[in-house]
Amino acid sequence: MHMGSVPRNMQLDISQMRSDFPILSKKINGKPLVYFDNAATTQRPVQVIQAIDRFYRETNSNVHRGVHELSERATEQFEAARENVAKFINAKSPNEIIFVRGTTEAINLVAYSYGKKLRRGNRVLLSLMEHHSNIVPWQFLREKGVELDYVGVNDDGTLKLEDYYGLMTKQTKIVSIAHVSNVLGTINPVEEIAKIAHEKGSLILVDGAQSIPHVSIDVQEMDCDFFAFSGHKMLGPTGIGVLYAKESVLEQMDPFMGGGSIIKEVQLNESKWNDLPYKFEAGTPNIAGAIGLGVAIDYLNVIGMENIRRVGKGLTEYALETLPEVGDIEIYGPKNSEDRVEVFSFNLAKVHAHDVASIVNDYGVAIRSGHHCAQPLMRRLGVPATSRASLYAYNTKEEIDLFIQSLKKAKEVFN
Ligand SMILES: Cc1ncc(COP(=O)(O)O)c(C=O)c1O
Repeated sequence: MHMGSVPRNMQLDISQMRSDFPILSKKINGKPLVYFDNAATTQRPVQVIQAIDRFYRETNSNVHRGVHELSERATEQFEAARENVAKFINAKSPNEIIFVRGTTEAINLVAYSYGKKLRRGNRVLLSLMEHHSNIVPWQFLREKGVELDYVGVNDDGTLKLEDYYGLMTKQTKIVSIAHVSNVLGTINPVEEIAKIAHEKGSLILVDGAQSIPHVSIDVQEMDCDFFAFSGHKMLGPTGIGVLYAKESVLEQMDPFMGGGSIIKEVQLNESKWNDLPYKFEAGTPNIAGAIGLGVAIDYLNVIGMENIRRVGKGLTEYALETLPEVGDIEIYGPKNSEDRVEVFSFNLAKVHAHDVASIVNDYGVAIRSGHHCAQPLMRRLGVPATSRASLYAYNTKEEIDLFIQSLKKAKEVFN
């Protein structure tokens, strides 16, 4: 696809889109690659690959430091990427966009910097469907007497919303919740949860790692205090991600890491912090990564997030309709395409999840198996592991058919 060639709301030409992703035409084990591991990381279009290559060939220099031409150009491109991110999620200002390595670092930043303000007896409210990166950073706060509570998960893979009323107390200072589950694909009602959190005097962090590739994000409408995501799950490079936070909240927080860029003045025993967003960006950032992320956002904007969501719903409906043909298959998560994205965890009776992933690999199909960094959720589901097929807008119904054939082979081998 050539940038600018798909007007919003036009039918998306998937084969044209696929031609932008060189890796999708590769063969694996002599078979055409069926890449269904997008929740782990998506693929990158040539536009992103070329932007990174171009940066290193033509503009490479450090940012915010030099007065020489290259440094000014690099700074301009880096800051333009920040503005692009701000617009993409409808932040009020680019000052609210902190570049980090990814969702994990964003959540650690908040748990550390906002966590410094918490006291013994304060509580953090999570859920049983969180990725470990939205559990472990909060566990560090237990050392200072902060307690963790967990909202439950219903059998249909939705959140027990009533738990927010039951578990929120005056001591709850942060609610942190995945917008979309990386295991179940469930889309959580984060606007409603934000309302409850704020009514009870708590802040809310939304882990957007799995939502930002699939649905359009408006942080002002969501009214979240923090929103975290990773570039590599939305067609961008690895090693770059974003913490969005309301300016008023960031103003109250100390830096996460010490070093250059975050300071206005350094004395021998203390320092004065820089303005936002630089107060939270210690050291040389991932400049090419941020520029690549900006180009990934341009790409998504050209396709249109509403088109991506529409294609995703179509793939979800087709997969939920056809996967049961395999027989003896349990698919976890909501059954309605409105309430989920195209990420499917499942188990085949009498076949271990790892064996499923290994056999379908022989047929060129890339899926993941294991606990998906969500052990509390595995315990809730009563299984040690699942297989997970996670699709994206460039995937097709024909690929789902190939996947189903490979699952039938796996069943044959093991039964
Ligand atoms: C819901 C969720 N949160 C957080 C993360 C962590 O993202 P990263 O590894 O890019 O920091 C992931 C990664 O799979 C995820 O699925």
